[in-house]
Amino acid sequence: MSQSLVGLRDVSADRIVSLLDRASAYRGRIAAGEARLELLRGRAVALMFFEASTRTRFSFEMAAHRLGADVLSFSAASSSTTKGETLLDTTRLLAAVGADAVVIRHAAVGVPHRLSELLPIPVLNAGDGINEHPTQALLDLLTLRDHLGSLAGRTVAIVGDVRHSRVARSNVFGLRALGARVLVAGPGTLCPAGLEHLGAEPRRSLDDVLDEADAVMMLRIQRERLGGAILPSAEEYRRYWGLDERRAARLRPGAVVMHPAPMNRGVEIADEVADGPSSVIFAQMENGVYVRMAALAASVGVDR
Ligand code: CP
Repeated sequence: MSQSLVGLRDVSADRIVSLLDRASAYRGRIAAGEARLELLRGRAVALMFFEASTRTRFSFEMAAHRLGADVLSFSAASSSTTKGETLLDTTRLLAAVGADAVVIRHAAVGVPHRLSELLPIPVLNAGDGINEHPTQALLDLLTLRDHLGSLAGRTVAIVGDVRHSRVARSNVFGLRALGARVLVAGPGTLCPAGLEHLGAEPRRSLDDVLDEADAVMMLRIQRERLGGAILPSAEEYRRYWGLDERRAARLRPGAVVMHPAPMNRGVEIADEVADGPSSVIFAQMENGVYVRMAALAASVGVDR
């Protein structure tokens, strides 16, 4: 059965674990020398990115190639959306010409969800505004599981611009579903009230989470979503909210440092930490391919 993936808010722990197990299995097969698994041979995946992306776009594209699928790449700037064609008509066209799944990133909250109700093919959310980024959270969960084992009872701190972070929201849903405790901390203007309702525990500062966390997920300030909001300077931000070597030394033994990237090196994370022994940031990026393979194959109903 085909199934969209538009967010983790209502996704069960069983479905999350099944996707992570599938991603691990695909990773094992590729490590054993199978360059292409051919599970989606003859299928086509449409990639529609209406916002900038490096990691998500490349890893979805690589995931599709690894599964043997064809990739239909869409460029908003050179498409007929510039002539006024609606998003729904554009995506209907992709289904009409033979796409078996559509991956979409859009600035407007809810676009993937609405399309999933209207299209005859599954929709995978590659990030919708400040709402959700489910495959990023899945790759984070896989990376955490690789390093910490079971996430039940573990503590993960998410630090920075939580207000504008779809990564934070999807991670809160996914981590809570798997039984982890989630601490969130950020500057007052960048940390919304009401996070308790999502199951997260607010903290006042980065320094307040370091001793407790099994993992610290640093977020960049999403300047592109800030409008006229008043912000600390980069130097002030680094001083109060930056994870530098001195602060990283306070982490528990075995704790890992994460970042969804792109990173603002020298602001929310120091070079020495991003490239240091506790960092799993590039493992996160690699896991993005396996998780997106799992999400694509599951979405079109391939059950192995
Ligand atoms: N982490 C993430 O979504 O990166 P991109 O914006 O480069 O896709």
